[in-house]
Amino acid sequence: MTQFDFYGRIAEAGVEETLQNGRYLTQKDAEAFVPEDVSRKLLFASEDVVLDIGCGLGINAFPASRIVREVTCVDHGSVLSRLRAKCSGENNIVFKEGDFLELSFKEKYTKIIMYCVVPALPDMDVVRSFVDKALCLLEPKGLMLIGDIANVDKKRRFQASEQGRQFEEEWARKRADEKKTDLSQYINDNKTVVMGDDEVIALLGQIRSQGFDAYLLPQPKNLPFGYTREDILVVGPEYGNEVR
Ligand SMILES: C[S@@+](CC[C@H](N)C(=O)[O-])C[C@H]1O[C@@H](n2cnc3c(N)ncnc32)[C@H](O)[C@@H]1O
Repeated sequence: MTQFDFYGRIAEAGVEETLQNGRYLTQKDAEAFVPEDVSRKLLFASEDVVLDIGCGLGINAFPASRIVREVTCVDHGSVLSRLRAKCSGENNIVFKEGDFLELSFKEKYTKIIMYCVVPALPDMDVVRSFVDKALCLLEPKGLMLIGDIANVDKKRRFQASEQGRQFEEEWARKRADEKKTDLSQYINDNKTVVMGDDEVIALLGQIRSQGFDAYLLPQPKNLPFGYTREDILVVGPEYGNEVR
């Protein structure tokens, strides 16, 4: 069973939203800062047509839908059922059920969000396929955020610092206090990609080799994984041409 099926199963079981979003319960408050950072990086505008790949319960899709023309949300059918149930009159959200790699799309998008999805993929081959397919769907004047990439080398650097040591102690205390929900019953193969500096930098190269610009961006430290994760911003070759 893949992580994709796992997210479907926990959606059917109705686990707490923060867990469904792939975060720890103790990160619930920090999670609220995610959409602001995504919106600051993707510069949503009223004419945007947005694709949210692996949208989960709409942490980014809902705030974006208040600004842009349309948001297409892609995820497991059971996850999208939960997302639909949260909708209250948003008529510019479109739902597309299924594995992103197996879906076909008729249009391109001016903004693409792929947030906290890379850490849920099984290996680098799938990560590369995801990114290549998403690049095919990005308008030349578009922007894409591949957000919340877990980087083991960045984490190691942080943990070696004094601040990192203090954080780890505090984290262990918070996790011990956290109400425990055992998600292991929903998964039997927890294989997820491991990325370090080499893999992140290779991904930047893969994107640039296809004619896009790509930049590594830090996360604000108040985000759930702000000390150990980072984002890639992809910039289409025609982005900003109208500003002359
Ligand atoms: C950690 S959650 C993040 C959800 C949301 N983007 C957020 O930041 O709150 C990862 C999401 O990616 C989805 N996902 C994983 N593999 C996928 C695939 N192959 N196609 C579409 N969605 C996928 C999962 O179902 C899950 O909802």
